[in-house]
Amino acid sequence: TNPSLLILPGDGIGPEVMAEVRKIIDWFGTKRGLAFDVSEDLVGGVAYDAHGTPLHDDTMARAHAADAVLLGAVGGPKYDALDFSVKPERGLLRLRKEMDLFSNLRPAQCFDALADFSSLKKDVVAGLDIMIVRELTSGVYFGEPRGIFEEGNERVGINTQRYTESEIARVAKSAFELAMRRGKKLCSMEKANVMESGILWREVVTEIGREYPEVELSHMYADAGAMQLTRWPKQFDVIVTDNLFGDLLSDLAAMLTGSLGMLPSASLGAPMANGRPKALYEPVHGSAPDIAGQGKANPIACILSFAMALRYSFDHGQEAARLEAAIERVLADGVRTADLMGPDDGTPVSTSEMGDAILAALDAS
Ligand code: NAI
Ligand code: MG
Repeated sequence: TNPSLLILPGDGIGPEVMAEVRKIIDWFGTKRGLAFDVSEDLVGGVAYDAHGTPLHDDTMARAHAADAVLLGAVGGPKYDALDFSVKPERGLLRLRKEMDLFSNLRPAQCFDALADFSSLKKDVVAGLDIMIVRELTSGVYFGEPRGIFEEGNERVGINTQRYTESEIARVAKSAFELAMRRGKKLCSMEKANVMESGILWREVVTEIGREYPEVELSHMYADAGAMQLTRWPKQFDVIVTDNLFGDLLSDLAAMLTGSLGMLPSASLGAPMANGRPKALYEPVHGSAPDIAGQGKANPIACILSFAMALRYSFDHGQEAARLEAAIERVLADGVRTADLMGPDDGTPVSTSEMGDAILAALDAS
């Protein structure tokens, strides 16, 4: 049987960019013989409209059963006034939580044709290709106690940074595995100088590292890491860090390379019975209500998320590279959606024109 792919286009530009991904998936099916059992379902505001919940139980069950889930984006002004418990974002949070997706992969990759677009000097970013692995299910966003409490005659806001050994070990393992497939260099970032959880983090990562003698492991305080990421990001290959530092560092690293419309992500969990990790792939951007329905959205972030699925769920790394090379070629030819150009840079292409250009480049590959 073919591997299964559950597609959840969601809201706003989600369905627009996903339509282009569907073309790419079809291309790999007909031209490269990579057949997937693709099914589609609702998430976010559109699911709320249909079922009164942003993620139906049936959809959750299908996500559990799928070999990989590909999501567009959720949310929009239409749903802003909804009760927190049924907000579109809750659909996404439920997927991440119930699939126990603890390892969030955020690449920061610079396509040469866009090196001028970065806010940094061209030689600092040209050819950049690093991966940040962020722990996604624990740490200060979840630790107890948390809340706003009365203390004496004032309020106190409390969050707790808490990591168990096994939580650190499993995300460290996924980062080492990734490093083995890439440049065999891993930098772990925490603040062991001021945080107990950081001391444990450093110890456990070091212990796991003994199982990966080929990987060159280094440690850096996260604040120094932020400086090094902007000073000379090419010194890194894979970075592994906790939930909070990963939130900041991955956003920082993302902006080294340009537009939100270019950024994919993967969230991975434990291996399923067939050996594949539970996996959710999605662009970093949201539903972009300001441009939704106008054919202006850049589909590349979502297409690159599918490339990550090819690589990390389906072991088709070469086909993923083929897709990335086609995108590089299209950008080198000057094909640009509006987010990739300045106001005086000519006429942008539409969402579907960008998809078609990538298909043409694939045909020529
Ligand atoms: P956003 O990412 O939707 O948009 C930020 C800016 O980037 C906008 O100007 C938008 O037009 C632009 N942009 C985003 N993706 C683009 C693309 N593919 N091509 C061209 N331009 C693009 O973030 P914002 O505006 O803060 O949130 C809008 C809605 O999306 C909210 O309801 C928010 O809750 C939701 N959201 C959902 C996320 C998700 O589904 N993972 C993540 C972030 C926000
Ligand atoms: Mg963030």
